[in-house]
Amino acid sequence: MNETSYKAVWDRRSGSESDALNAVDNSASEEVVRATGAWSAAQLRAGLEIVPSDTILELGCGAGRIGRELAGDCAEYVGVDISPNMIEVATSRLEDFDNARLEVLDRTSLEAIDSASVDKVFTIAVFCHMDKEDLFLYMREIRRVLKPGGLAYLETWNLADPVGWQRWLAEADHWAGSDQSQRKDVSRNQFCVPEEFTLYTDRAGLQPLVCFRDSPWIQIIAGKDLDARAIETERNRIAERRGEIAYSPQFGRLFLDSMKIIYGQLHPRDALDRLEALPDQPEKKVFRTYFRGLWQAQQDRFGPLPNQD
Ligand SMILES: C[S@@+](CC[C@H](N)C(=O)[O-])C[C@H]1O[C@@H](n2cnc3c(N)ncnc32)[C@H](O)[C@@H]1O
Repeated sequence: MNETSYKAVWDRRSGSESDALNAVDNSASEEVVRATGAWSAAQLRAGLEIVPSDTILELGCGAGRIGRELAGDCAEYVGVDISPNMIEVATSRLEDFDNARLEVLDRTSLEAIDSASVDKVFTIAVFCHMDKEDLFLYMREIRRVLKPGGLAYLETWNLADPVGWQRWLAEADHWAGSDQSQRKDVSRNQFCVPEEFTLYTDRAGLQPLVCFRDSPWIQIIAGKDLDARAIETERNRIAERRGEIAYSPQFGRLFLDSMKIIYGQLHPRDALDRLEALPDQPEKKVFRTYFRGLWQAQQDRFGPLPNQD
């Protein structure tokens, strides 16, 4: 099996719609993908201040989990991905949006996209699946395609966060037993510390405006060619909306429970009990849907999923 080409690996994982959904969030469930997609879309609306005239580019759009939630908010949504199968699934999931354009990428380049043609760019759960050189090459491409004054939202795994570290340790342990005559899977999870991710952003010629780092994910919002006044305005705006953009520590803890479910270390029933005992907060709803989706996908391991009351 060819695990050295991004295209081959991701195409193999997305041969059907349900496989593609599974590859983006381990649930294989339309209900879960819509719930998690809505969460990400809300973060992006706040972080990038999306307006109806925007042309938005998503790098690594996968099955259109987020694009489907955002296409209605902008003039044009462009989703690009290395995997033709993913693009086929995204095309079908976004068929109701005539302002959506989906393109297959050939390599680590946004050559299908004109220079200075998009207002906002985002990429979620993609940089964490590639070599650092490719991550940096894409950041330079993001700078090229953004209009002056445009904004980018960039995200990857955060090694400096305690839950991020546990996620990385699971990878290290996984590879401990691998066949060392073979290269590791090119799409494996890779991690940065916030300073490193900020450095790549800066050296790619983008202007990091904020770097949220209190969760398993590093979230950077960066600008292109903003003057000093625009930088200050954007920083103030983002600070005011931080609660809508940054993952909370609670989100990180619940994510850890989801990891334990995926690795078979926690029964989803126990995770759901712990969740219900928490005070009311927005994270509860999305994780209730997510934990139930993970249970549904693994009923052979965890037993039948009870009906929701
Ligand atoms: C975990 S999925 C996330 C999909 C989507 N961003 C989301 O959050 O639902 C990772 C996606 O990145 C794409 N991808 C992986 N490596 C890539 C590369 N080098 N260039 C472009 N896309 C890539 C995969 O095909 C896959 O669709």
